[in-house]
Amino acid sequence: MSEELTPVREWKVSGVGKLTLEKVARVAEYVEDIALFNPEELADRAGIDVEKAMLIVRAARRLVRSREGARRAFRGTEYAKMLDTRDMFTTGVRAIDELLGGGMYVWDVYEFAGEFGSGKTQLCHQLAVTVQLPPGKGGLGGGAVFIDTEGTFSPSRIEAMAKRFGVENPLENVYVVRPLNVDELEEIVIEEFPRIIREGARLLIVDSIIALYRAEFKGREMLAARQQRINYLLDWLKRYARRYNMAVAITNQVLTQPVPWGAALKLPAGGNIIAHASTHRFLLRRSGDSWVIECIDSPRIARGASAKFLITDRGVEDAK
Ligand code: GTP
Ligand code: MG
Repeated sequence: MSEELTPVREWKVSGVGKLTLEKVARVAEYVEDIALFNPEELADRAGIDVEKAMLIVRAARRLVRSREGARRAFRGTEYAKMLDTRDMFTTGVRAIDELLGGGMYVWDVYEFAGEFGSGKTQLCHQLAVTVQLPPGKGGLGGGAVFIDTEGTFSPSRIEAMAKRFGVENPLENVYVVRPLNVDELEEIVIEEFPRIIREGARLLIVDSIIALYRAEFKGREMLAARQQRINYLLDWLKRYARRYNMAVAITNQVLTQPVPWGAALKLPAGGNIIAHASTHRFLLRRSGDSWVIECIDSPRIARGASAKFLITDRGVEDAK
């Protein structure tokens, strides 16, 4: 990214003292990063007054706008064109690309839910490779950030898949994050991601979104707090997605909902928060010797539309 950046330490905001900006600099290195914060969040993380944080965030947004001349309101026609012409990359599986309307689009959040062994982690590994393909070959020529909450990230699997696509040194462009708890995850996402993203990441992966939160927020009485924290994280991922033209992929576990008559229903975990944060939701499942991915909610893809795929030593592939 060839963006000129303004260090917070060299910045001046009228009405805000040097000491306050010094505290802010510990949370965000560049003014451009502050533009993504809400005043309350900045106040909280930097340990400053909300009123000062408001001045700082507004000044940051003004600076970004003046530099990029970024408009904030668009005619519907212009907006539609932006949506249609935004970047996307291949999943490496023709049938899944077709299901997705071409591939994985930046700005969107893709949720892949399913039982154990349904292929969620394999698909995430493959996306971390295909996003690296050059644009001429269906990729974005960028890296991936892999937030691994379950400890199943596999470097050797990435290398095996990369071989198939002819991607060299794939692990150089995959940033692995293994947070110990929710607090650390938020700290990494908010304070370290800007730097990683500037090194060229175009895809954010969370495998899985729910694991850490389930372990930490136990019991019914913690549910509201848990949902709020999940929402907070997803909101930050979406801010990066918009600001830096990235795609977001999250995996989710499923809950079995008993139905009075008929087969039990499998639903993604996490309730309304994850449902609303995801742009496109899919259920993955094993079916005999192959796997199926089915759309359960999307503004563009028909509900119930599905694609078949295989998982082999080479990665995720089209069914024969
Ligand atoms: P959980 O994380 O447990 O919920 O499951 P998941 O949906 O993430 O499953 P994952 O993607 O890890 O694995 C799906 C399936 O891929 C496994 O059950 C294996 O059948 C298959 N698989 C994983 N690695 C390999 C491999 O190296 N070679 C082959 N042939 N198959 C593999
Ligand atoms: Mg998994």
